[in-house]
Amino acid sequence: MLKIWICMLLVITQLNQILVRGQSATNYNVGIGIADITGTVAGVNMMGYAMPEQVAAGLHIRQRSRAFIIVDPSTSKRVVFVSADLAMGSLAVRRATLERLKETFGDLYNEENVAISGTHTHAGPAGYLQYALYQITSFGYIKENTEAISTGIYNSIVKAHNSIQPGSIFVSSGELLGANINRSPFSYEQNPEGERAQYKDNVDKEMILLKFTNAKGDVIGSINWFPVHPVSMMNNNTLVSGDNKGTASYFLEREYNNGTLPGEETIVHAFANSNLGDTSPNIFGPYCADTGLPCEYKTSTCNGKKETCFGRGYGYLTGDDIYATRKIAELHVSKAKELIDTATTPVTGSIDFKFTKVDLENYNFTLNGNDISLCKAALGYSMIAGTTDGPGGFNFVQGDNSTGNPFWKITTGVIKQPTKETIECQRPKPIVLATGEMTSPYDYTPSIVEIQLLRIGNIIICVVPAEFTTMSGRRLTKTVKNVLVKKGIIDENGIVIVSGPSNSYTHYVTTPEEYSVQRYEGGSTIYGPNTLNAYLQLYTDLSVALADNLVVPIGFDAPDFTDKALNFLPPIIVDIPTLFKKFGDVIKDVNEKYIRGETIEVEFVGGHPKNYVQLESSFFYVQRLEGNRWINFKNDGDWNTKFKWLGNSVVRIIWEITDDVQAGTYRILYQGYHKLLGGKIVPESGITSIFTVS
Ligand SMILES: *[C@@H]1O[C@H](CO)[C@@H](O)[C@H](O)[C@H]1NC(C)=O
Ligand SMILES: *[C@@H]1O[C@H](CO)[C@@H](O)[C@H](O)[C@H]1NC(C)=O
Ligand SMILES: *[C@@H]1O[C@H](CO)[C@@H](O)[C@H](O)[C@H]1NC(C)=O
Ligand SMILES: *[C@@H]1O[C@H](CO)[C@@H](O)[C@H](O)[C@H]1NC(C)=O
Repeated sequence: MLKIWICMLLVITQLNQILVRGQSATNYNVGIGIADITGTVAGVNMMGYAMPEQVAAGLHIRQRSRAFIIVDPSTSKRVVFVSADLAMGSLAVRRATLERLKETFGDLYNEENVAISGTHTHAGPAGYLQYALYQITSFGYIKENTEAISTGIYNSIVKAHNSIQPGSIFVSSGELLGANINRSPFSYEQNPEGERAQYKDNVDKEMILLKFTNAKGDVIGSINWFPVHPVSMMNNNTLVSGDNKGTASYFLEREYNNGTLPGEETIVHAFANSNLGDTSPNIFGPYCADTGLPCEYKTSTCNGKKETCFGRGYGYLTGDDIYATRKIAELHVSKAKELIDTATTPVTGSIDFKFTKVDLENYNFTLNGNDISLCKAALGYSMIAGTTDGPGGFNFVQGDNSTGNPFWKITTGVIKQPTKETIECQRPKPIVLATGEMTSPYDYTPSIVEIQLLRIGNIIICVVPAEFTTMSGRRLTKTVKNVLVKKGIIDENGIVIVSGPSNSYTHYVTTPEEYSVQRYEGGSTIYGPNTLNAYLQLYTDLSVALADNLVVPIGFDAPDFTDKALNFLPPIIVDIPTLFKKFGDVIKDVNEKYIRGETIEVEFVGGHPKNYVQLESSFFYVQRLEGNRWINFKNDGDWNTKFKWLGNSVVRIIWEITDDVQAGTYRILYQGYHKLLGGKIVPESGITSIFTVS
């Protein structure tokens, strides 16, 4: 009898402990998912540098979408935060994703509570934006890429939805040094001295991290924000990659998901971007390629020329941008690990969101008693000239008909003198393209854009459709925090985060002071000098609505141009195999033996990778013999492998055999698709000879 009593007492105490822990530990229901969003890996322009000649020719690591669903158990309100390895949010992608979500979940996930934040990688395939300006360099709109990306984002949200469980969130932040610098310090220095004196650095160095744990207290994922341009992969790179952010996610996820191949992870770590507008990972500063001297400070030129001034990153001595990418990623990873370990401050409070669509070109507001209107979008000459991370990308726009760009040829007729009104409004911007006045074949830049706030307790995420500069981001977070602290929605420890470029893309946002000197970022602030002030007003309005529980009109939809979108990319007519070979044949086989440290390069006869987007699949597997079975040991998402399209129906697979590879027997399997005359697309595959690694 006594025994039974003691037993029961023990059970009750344990139950109590679980309840107590449960109460403090699981405030929310959380779901997390990762999925592949890699589009066409060859034959299409890469998004970011705006260089038509930068055409993808293979794959280093796959681009992923990482989705986090956070549900308030008391109200069932939920938010979805997606960080995707994309150059930016895109309305076309967002609409396609939301349409699929609606089919599956009804109104559960919608434009108001779903945020899609781009990491800003410059190493992914282009063509997924509906506005004409972004299609000039990609020779048109590439439906397949919108399809792949939106399917992948949807898949990541479905996975997150299916994994919803009681969980908790902890927040932590800390300084990450040596991973970003300001690439436009001359612009930054235009901001008032008193304002600059409030900050130690001319870029934000703080990484803010949310750690997600399940009811047992195990880490199930994390999101962090740190502002840096993912331009570690240079503008002559042709391999698809998530750049420094995607690479950081890759390495941290590898550590947390032992025994899985890339893409199969269940513990997911997102490295999202923030007020990155004037930041660079090329931390050694800009130098002239010819003389080795620092570039001219105000203009980032060398002897008056932009083309030879380059920001030096970790790859500058060797040209090895994969190494540079890894270095910046490793700095991210070690800080994130430290913050995961030290994140003990629980996030508590309601889940909420506010959302509206605003026609920025026709947006009026009052500023210090004056009526202000934003301008019709326009780009300045400095935007065309590029930055020290990739000088002169858009140079061909300056009336040069010699580039043979078919898209540009039809658009040159469209370029007209900006109206007087736009010139006045955009002053002092010297306008090169009045994109807001260019509407043929369809609009060049957006006018209606998404303004969104997510609340996770004491954490507020400003989801922004642009690249905010350091000081612009600071003004935004400060403004929103002031409103919400005053309203008692968050306390002084509350954290306001800028996340973007998200949902759609409207280039840069500088402060009016930075705008006045019209460097690249100012030239790219498309709605004129008051763009930031307009955003401050819009996010203030949303903050007030969040605090006072006001209904915000959702606003009007931007037009949909995807149906009439042009595409000048020559299609694949037919794939023709190498003479006397068939598709899948090995052209360059392996040796019999390798030792760790060596690199294998094999080649197959393969169809154009454009024929078929292999989402959630792999162009090849390195297979390992275990017993009498071949096990997939590596796929094409692996850091130590590369897939290259060499043209003329030849693909190359590269595997760097690192020291951690077990001795054993291996082979490499390739799988692809080729097109027959008449258009039928058929699969092909092939296997190398067997080899040993010791
Ligand atoms: C990873 O898993 C393998 C077996 O699947 C095991 O041998 C190894 O110790 C694990 N490593 C870690 C760090 O857990
Ligand atoms: C890219 O350019 C850099 C700097 O000019 C050079 O060192 C590097 O080898 C180039 N990379 C490729 C893949 O061509
Ligand atoms: C904003 O102001 C301009 C000029 O004052 C006016 O033409 C325009 O209609 C206004 N826009 C809206 C949305 O009220
Ligand atoms: C480019 O071509 C267009 C139309 O063919 C022509 O109007 C324009 O003057 C040309 N520009 C230059 C710089 O040659």
